[in-house]
Amino acid sequence: MKLTQEEKNKLISAKDESQWYKIIEDIKSVRNNLYPNDLAREILAIYHNKFPVNNYPVYEDSKQSKIDRKSFLTTLSVAWVAFAAATGGFLTVLIRFLFPNVLFEPPQSFKIGFPEDFEPGKVDLRFKKEYNVWIVRDDEKITALSTVCTHLGCTPNWQETERKFKCPCHGSGFRATGINFEGPAPRPLERFKIALANDGQIMVDKTKMFKYEKGEWNREESFLKV
Ligand code: FES
Repeated sequence: MKLTQEEKNKLISAKDESQWYKIIEDIKSVRNNLYPNDLAREILAIYHNKFPVNNYPVYEDSKQSKIDRKSFLTTLSVAWVAFAAATGGFLTVLIRFLFPNVLFEPPQSFKIGFPEDFEPGKVDLRFKKEYNVWIVRDDEKITALSTVCTHLGCTPNWQETERKFKCPCHGSGFRATGINFEGPAPRPLERFKIALANDGQIMVDKTKMFKYEKGEWNREESFLKV
């Protein structure tokens, strides 16, 4: 099952990621589409050398935002010290009381609209950016899927034509249901609690998660029957 030297050479000389994935498909097809862990590990090692994770925009973005946040916090701290010194600290305490940090965190429970706002067969991307959630409706139910890849935590993208979530970091693929079917991700995406609120709107609660591999997708709160 190991890579042949020729396959390794092909992977090493792949011009870009789309060519990389085509080569992987060829490698799988000559093995009856089997993709065992030792083969995935071998491929992953070459991938890491060729496409270092730090080069990905998603990582760059988060790295940059961490740097920005750090320098922002440093600047803010200096400003606070100067301000507190000038005012005897009174206003600092007052402002911290009026604007506690929690105000800047996105809420863990939130309403996303009514069931009829979600089309059957569609993956709704509207809540990805703010809440890291995809809302998926099929003919029977609505689910709230976590956008965190179960391999190493990158954020996959929904590809409508291929009807799959594809992770840009190491190529894991997940069906619209959240089930993993390609690449190194070891398990399906996670679901968040979803239920109807008193006003008939759908409420998502990210404090409660449901894992497929533990049989938790059968639980009532892991999906909303429609
Ligand atoms: S983080 Fe590795 S495939 Fe998603």
